[in-house]
Amino acid sequence: MAAINAVTDFSVEGDIGVVTLNSPPVNALSAAVREGLQGAFDAAIADAAVKAIVLICDGKTFIAGADITEFGKAMTGPSLQDVQNVIENSPKPVIAAIHGTALGGGLEVALVANYRVAVPSAKAGLPEVNIGLLPGAGGTQRLPRIVGVEKALEMVTTGQHVPAKAAHAMGLFDELVEEGKLREGAIAFAKAVVAENRPLKKVRDLNEKVEAARGKPEIFEAFRKANAKKFRGFMAPENNIKCIEAAVNLPFDEGLKAERKLFMELMTGSQSAAQRYVFFAERQAAKIPDVPDDTPTIPVKKVGVIGAGTMGGGIAMNFLNAGIPVTIIEAKQENLERGVGIIRKNYENTAKKGRLTQDDVEKRMALLTPSMEMEALADCDMIIEAVFELMEIKKEVFTKLDKIAKPGAILATNTSYLDVDAIAAVTSRPESVIGTHFFSPANVMRLLELVRGDKTSKDVIATCMKLSKTIGKVPVLVGVCYGFVGNRMLAQRQREAQKLILEGAMPWDVDRVLYDFGLPMGPFAMSDLAGLDIGWDPAKTSSSTVREVLCEMDRRGQKNGKGFYDYDENRNAKPSPVVEEVIRDFAEKRQIQRREITDQEILERCLYPMVNEGAKILEEGKAIRASDIDIVWINGYGWPVYSGGPMFWGELVGLDKVLAKMKQFHAELGDDFKPSALLERLVAEGKGFKDA
Ligand code: 3HC
Ligand code: NAI
Repeated sequence: MAAINAVTDFSVEGDIGVVTLNSPPVNALSAAVREGLQGAFDAAIADAAVKAIVLICDGKTFIAGADITEFGKAMTGPSLQDVQNVIENSPKPVIAAIHGTALGGGLEVALVANYRVAVPSAKAGLPEVNIGLLPGAGGTQRLPRIVGVEKALEMVTTGQHVPAKAAHAMGLFDELVEEGKLREGAIAFAKAVVAENRPLKKVRDLNEKVEAARGKPEIFEAFRKANAKKFRGFMAPENNIKCIEAAVNLPFDEGLKAERKLFMELMTGSQSAAQRYVFFAERQAAKIPDVPDDTPTIPVKKVGVIGAGTMGGGIAMNFLNAGIPVTIIEAKQENLERGVGIIRKNYENTAKKGRLTQDDVEKRMALLTPSMEMEALADCDMIIEAVFELMEIKKEVFTKLDKIAKPGAILATNTSYLDVDAIAAVTSRPESVIGTHFFSPANVMRLLELVRGDKTSKDVIATCMKLSKTIGKVPVLVGVCYGFVGNRMLAQRQREAQKLILEGAMPWDVDRVLYDFGLPMGPFAMSDLAGLDIGWDPAKTSSSTVREVLCEMDRRGQKNGKGFYDYDENRNAKPSPVVEEVIRDFAEKRQIQRREITDQEILERCLYPMVNEGAKILEEGKAIRASDIDIVWINGYGWPVYSGGPMFWGELVGLDKVLAKMKQFHAELGDDFKPSALLERLVAEGKGFKDA
């Protein structure tokens, strides 16, 4: 075995040359890897003893793509295209041997090989769209030549990782070899290619499948239409589609040029920059400076959930899905039955859609033990409380839990706003107490705010961070404060939305501006969906807010066809003249002078105070980094990933501009807009949040 460079080896076995990459963690195509590949292929091609070449990777995966950390920096070494040219023009057959994930540029390298051999656990995909890009190394031109236009469109716009079996069925993998025997299998395959003297077919020359779609623009139009809602606001899916169109309509080399142009358009834009930032931010959020990776964790083999309401049921499902048994406790028999019934119904609905078998449903339900006795939690390693949001009740529950739970068990609360330290203080073991703030619906939403109390132990934090991954959540560690990170910032936006409708805007104006910004829904449409009467008590009503007045008029939201909007039988929303009247009347009674409010003002009034609040959260140390705040907003509230989250977006706008507006609003509208000291300092020093 000869080292080509620090990350590439070349060896010869019989008449097969083997190029081995070893560049942890994921063999990404860094300058060193590109150099190594070029050197190794040059050597293999020059070596007269070599009749065919196998490309294989050490470590956990085949090449997982371009090295994203190099993007935006000056390129060194050979380009990926240079390397691909060497491989594709090799006079000797090239076989890519794939395990783990062949993604993005990694699959594009495999696509310039003549054959692809993989183990059954391997996956392949072009996930560039998820970082706001498209496959920029010929992937959009070569993939449809193998899998056809429809499958290629789906793969490049979803970024899905296709499992080996399916990849084999669609011709992307030529052969599957025994798990754990990739090297032997690929060499045997290469020997057979040589023995049979198979012709050197190149993917670029396979035209049949792209020609089949030529002159059929309706394929693309139908695809765009079917996915319009999903692609809303994103640039990358459209550019990916255009590339596949180019593959169909242009000769190969012209198609490559079109791909390059569309790739550069995305690469230099702000959306991809935001999405690449988010890719790393999500991984960064898992790292807690004072809780190193090797911190001991507590084995969690059995979980308890207290309260089988909206949240308790969803929380339980997360663990059942991961095969962890759950005991669920209720105070009321009927709520227990209803809660368990909803869990079963959710699973059965998933089964109806074909995403679970009935057997899976029964297996998951068999892991669930419903009970009316807190004592049933005695053997649980972690217990999550999800009872009513009232401090006295939470304290009562934790006092009792302290007596029942086994020593070392994690005691978690799902509170949305309450002081986790005050809850911990009623126990004899505050070090075991943590907040686990799930988002609704808890079995669907990816975010999990982990709330670190003053005394929460590092073991408990490390365990919850790891466990979050096991149950498919994105954990973000936050500190104790009212509403933690997400709801605390949301309160800023909600307050301004309410003020704006009295000052001159209408609910549909505010909703439209925020929807167009990319949020899934405006605050008023959201209220209608949730129900205006949540938390409204007819016995105590006093017409003190527009919402209360609407409830008094029996406008309860979507559920009874009228709220801030009027709804038709298909739940289509229409601005309501009645609500307009209510708002005008309400403002007049409070002597609020209504005025013209621009869309720009709506946006700035709703979003700048969120950025400012985020800065306060950072300043108080309630979030570790600005990027953690962005991860909260993207995964918990549907902030559009293409603008990177509120903090990244604030920097995109310019922190100086945000601050100047906050100062102006502060002078005109009062203390709700008081700029954070951190924001002032960063602007004065010309710095960004990452320097905070
Ligand atoms: N470039 C640089 N670093 C990368 C990387 C990449 N393409 N992919 C992963 N990494 C890093 C991660 O940041 C992480 O670093 P850390 O340990 O310091 O935090 C480490 O590798 C391990 O990654 P994960 O924690 O994500 O490990 P998993 O095992 O959970 O997942 C994976 C592995 C499925 C490969 C996942 O990392 C992934 O999806 N990576 C991105 C794949 C991708 O987007 N490829 C396309 C790149 S763009 C491209 O190829 C353009 C081309 O068309 C020209
Ligand atoms: P819910 O009202 O739907 O359910 C609470 C359940 O707890 C009820 O079924 C009730 O009978 C039961 N319960 C009350 N006291 C109990 C006790 N002592 N022992 C056992 N069971 C008891 O409430 P929801 O919405 O599920 O909220 C639960 C917690 O989750 C609250 O702290 C809330 O703030 C928080 N939360 C709620 C979110 C939401 O969107 N609904 C989102 C995130 C957090």
